[in-house]
Amino acid sequence: MSPQLAEFFDFLRFPSISTDSRHRDDVRRCAEFLATKCRSMGLRTELHETPGHPILVASSVPKPGRPTVLIYGHYDVQPVDPVSEWDTPPFEPTLVGDKIYARGATDNKGQHFAHLLGVEAALKAHGDLPVNVVFLIEGEEEIGSPNLAPFLANHRELLKCDVCAVSDTGMIGAGIPTMTYGLRGIACLEFKIHGPVRDLHSGVYGGAVPNPATMVSRIIASLHDDEGRIRIPGFYDRVLPLESWEREMWASLPDGDAATLDETGAPGLWGEAGYTSLERRWGRPTAEVNGIGGGYQGEGSKTVIGREAMAKLSFRLVPDQNPQEILELAAAHLKSVCPPSCRIEVELGHWGPAYVMDPHSPYGKAAQRALVRAFSGEPRLIREGGSIPIIQAIKDTLGVDSLLLGLALPDCQIHSPNENFTVTNFEAGIRLNQALLEELAG
Ligand code: BES
Ligand code: ZN
Repeated sequence: MSPQLAEFFDFLRFPSISTDSRHRDDVRRCAEFLATKCRSMGLRTELHETPGHPILVASSVPKPGRPTVLIYGHYDVQPVDPVSEWDTPPFEPTLVGDKIYARGATDNKGQHFAHLLGVEAALKAHGDLPVNVVFLIEGEEEIGSPNLAPFLANHRELLKCDVCAVSDTGMIGAGIPTMTYGLRGIACLEFKIHGPVRDLHSGVYGGAVPNPATMVSRIIASLHDDEGRIRIPGFYDRVLPLESWEREMWASLPDGDAATLDETGAPGLWGEAGYTSLERRWGRPTAEVNGIGGGYQGEGSKTVIGREAMAKLSFRLVPDQNPQEILELAAAHLKSVCPPSCRIEVELGHWGPAYVMDPHSPYGKAAQRALVRAFSGEPRLIREGGSIPIIQAIKDTLGVDSLLLGLALPDCQIHSPNENFTVTNFEAGIRLNQALLEELAG
């Protein structure tokens, strides 16, 4: 195994699950590992404390007269459950053929570590870089980056740059240079339905008192009509329609409906009528249930009416929807459909707006040239359905666009069991970083 790969495996061994307070120390140790790595490369490195997890900033020695590139990434990862569905332990990276299996392998440790190693290799070979580089690597992306937006606002000078580069998105297929020019936004909430004051015998009281689990289901069912459109009043008011050039360009990509079926293994497709899978995933807003609970969850049956039930929802948003406004509209809708026989409690969660940039800007074109050097063939321009909440804040606060040059492959299983990253893309990421910095230098 190459020393670079061995180091990457060490990085993957930290269970840096940002959402789980039991892993708080693991998250910190992971940040310290990264900081040590950056210092060993000669970067000016600091771990900045926040009320949550630390933020790493590591800069090359700045030289005047050349552009500064901010490289953003996140060292936190998603939870691993259901852990029984992993074929190998999620924090014991395992190489099978070309694939490295581990939580965070693709999302996002492998992708930003490749950038770090690209910079390290260039510094070793030339003692210098073609541009100034500032790495900004946070530990809270998977929980909505609550502390990074204020950090940007308070460290404008430290983070001053001409453009931002991010590898945290996907490629449409192995070896196909793919540039993402848009991301969906996100807005999360949780609601609870309270019924009787205690769990009840469902025979003695059933039929005469509200069952919170039934009410949660009815409320969830009110979110969509039969055509897959969202029924929250005002939800679509600010939605910008897809441009015809985008619809044409995406229609020329490999069949997205077939790919969606193939990648997910679902028996069929479901979504908003009148749109293809790619349009639904990249350019249309959604309402999703991410979690639902209530009643008896154990083995066998228990004839009970649980006293409460809950659901966790997230909305994926597109330009120009305003996440906070969407949360207000959604909360108002949930309250309006909750029957008077129950009490509803709505807790608003994290959010981040959608993002779009012009892929044909000078930096956008430089990024496409770099992609062609690292892979080959015509670069494909796509939007993505996932969200990186800080990208629009980087635009608003630092005034720069983000070049989204992701290396995630369709079968990389991010957020799922058996997440994996290919050695091929890990090595391509190192080359991509070097080509990108050269192209951005002009
Ligand atoms: N890397 C993903 C975002 C992504 C994945 C973009 C695939 C494009 C294609 C990122 O780590 C992520 O999962 N973001 C979360 C953000 C949320 C928790 C605030 C997401 O999209 O669910
Ligand atoms: Zn993620």
